[in-house]
Amino acid sequence: MLELKPEEKAMLEGRQGKATRKAMEIITSLGEIYGARRLIPISSVQIAGVSYDNLGEPGLEFLSDMAADGKARVLTTLNPAGMDLEEWQKHGITAEFARNQQRVVDAFAKMGVVTTCTCTPYLVGNLPHYGEHIAWAESSAVCFANSVIGARTNREGGPSALAAALTGLTAEYGLHLDENRVAEVKYEIKATLKTTDDFGLLGQVIGERTKQAIPYVTGVSHATTEDLMSFCASVATYGGVAMFHMEGISPSRTTVPEKTETVTQEDLNKARQSLDDKDAIIDFISIGCPHASINEIAHIAGLLDGKRVKKGKTVWITTARPTKDLAIRMGYYEKIETAGAFLVSDACCAVAPLKGRFTGLMTDSAKACFYARGKNKFKTEIRTIEECIEEAVS
Ligand code: F3S
Repeated sequence: MLELKPEEKAMLEGRQGKATRKAMEIITSLGEIYGARRLIPISSVQIAGVSYDNLGEPGLEFLSDMAADGKARVLTTLNPAGMDLEEWQKHGITAEFARNQQRVVDAFAKMGVVTTCTCTPYLVGNLPHYGEHIAWAESSAVCFANSVIGARTNREGGPSALAAALTGLTAEYGLHLDENRVAEVKYEIKATLKTTDDFGLLGQVIGERTKQAIPYVTGVSHATTEDLMSFCASVATYGGVAMFHMEGISPSRTTVPEKTETVTQEDLNKARQSLDDKDAIIDFISIGCPHASINEIAHIAGLLDGKRVKKGKTVWITTARPTKDLAIRMGYYEKIETAGAFLVSDACCAVAPLKGRFTGLMTDSAKACFYARGKNKFKTEIRTIEECIEEAVS
């Protein structure tokens, strides 16, 4: 039975405005459904459902209602929008879409949300610490927060993340509780993992096998932050996994499960084949799913330096606005754009309105393949970042 403190009851009764009341209704309903006993304060929120391509007018109407008197009480940032908020014309976005996307962002800004639109908020200032309770929505970021940082969040929906922002609260259930953060299946990795695409394939294999159970992963001797971002995105996409333990990497403690599975090189090869369409004609190359780090952008700028993207190919490197600003200062943007590729901030290849514009995507991201096929009906090929750039320029 969910028990509310007097100030929480006051919110629910509407004494702090209509948006706060609606937000409290959402949070208490979820709390009751999932058997929470109390609400807990959270210190950070990340809201998904930002692209106008996904929200449409009904979603925008809900946001506008909440923005009438709602204000974020904790640090809150956004998931990618459907376009680069400044350079959208260059990327073939229509003026009508841009107008509507800006209305969405304006509604969030009115509520005091920081309008950094990214799925890697932990790289650009929305970084919780170990054990901190937060309310994030983007599946890859949720997985990263729980598993790599050791913060605690359920996978919120767009409305429940907004509700957490407007109240500073969430219901205590699921991954906020110790007993639900215990590994359930052990995966021994007997394969070579070198690049972000390898880690995406590993996420696909484990995700498809584990089906939301919390995996305990052994045998990964080294992983960069970008490798872990790729793994998180993939294991969440293919298995709905919101948390894993990776031996030697994850900070959280758990018992090691007895049930053990093995992932071999052959398993990864099969996963790779499953994402490679034989008849793909590649006209779109996208890197930055999840949003690229400054380290990746520096590497890509080096690969593109002095080269030229071939006619008939479009290249998007997607990232967060602060990372793009840094890339401009460091001269990486200049190298990328002079080569004819685009450094696109605020958006990504899955939530931008790209259906019908391309036929074949090459990417280093297993998650991007999933959405390219499902949402945009593109054919796909998964390769290393170096191979993606080679395909663009050779
Ligand atoms: Fe991020 Fe978009 Fe990929 S939200 S994880 S870049 S599908």
